[in-house]
Amino acid sequence: MTIERTLILCKPDAVSRGLIGDITARFERRGYIIVAMKMLQLDGDRARAHYAEHDGKPFFSELVDFITSGPLVALAIEGENVIEGCRQIIGATNPLTAAPGSIRGDLAQTIGRNLVHGSDSKGSAERELKIFFDANEFVSRRHDLERWIKG
Ligand code: RTP
Ligand code: MG
Repeated sequence: MTIERTLILCKPDAVSRGLIGDITARFERRGYIIVAMKMLQLDGDRARAHYAEHDGKPFFSELVDFITSGPLVALAIEGENVIEGCRQIIGATNPLTAAPGSIRGDLAQTIGRNLVHGSDSKGSAERELKIFFDANEFVSRRHDLERWIKG
């Protein structure tokens, strides 16, 4: 088994549109397990750290302005190959090409307001989770997870 942990963000547009429940339900229904969850508003330094890979791109300052513009919900989620699985549930970056049935394909219109973030690799997940959570904030729910993945 390849149990992984990933960072999901319900971005400020998701919070202001009242979509926290809809979005988190989609991960839970897949059988993925929430092991940490909090609402917070990012300051510029943490936002730039989170999006460091995009520093220098034309949309970087807009991205930082948006992600700091209001409260977001950060979740740490565990499951078998959960990093790739969550990216499937989220859908393509541009909602116009995101499959119907995915979060962005169902609920978003534009790339700049695409509702959700999901880590894109093990390295990113490890780095990003540290920006949002201290080690002692994760609960252990391995028993719940095993009920789903062992049938
Ligand atoms: P995310 O990091 O939010 O999960 O999204 P992603 O992997 O699908 O996309 P990524 O390439 O990492 O881009 C991060 C966020 O930047 C915004 N973006 N805008 N205007 C643009 O061309 C552009 N490209 C990316 C999106 O909000 C994207 O989610
Ligand atoms: Mg990304």
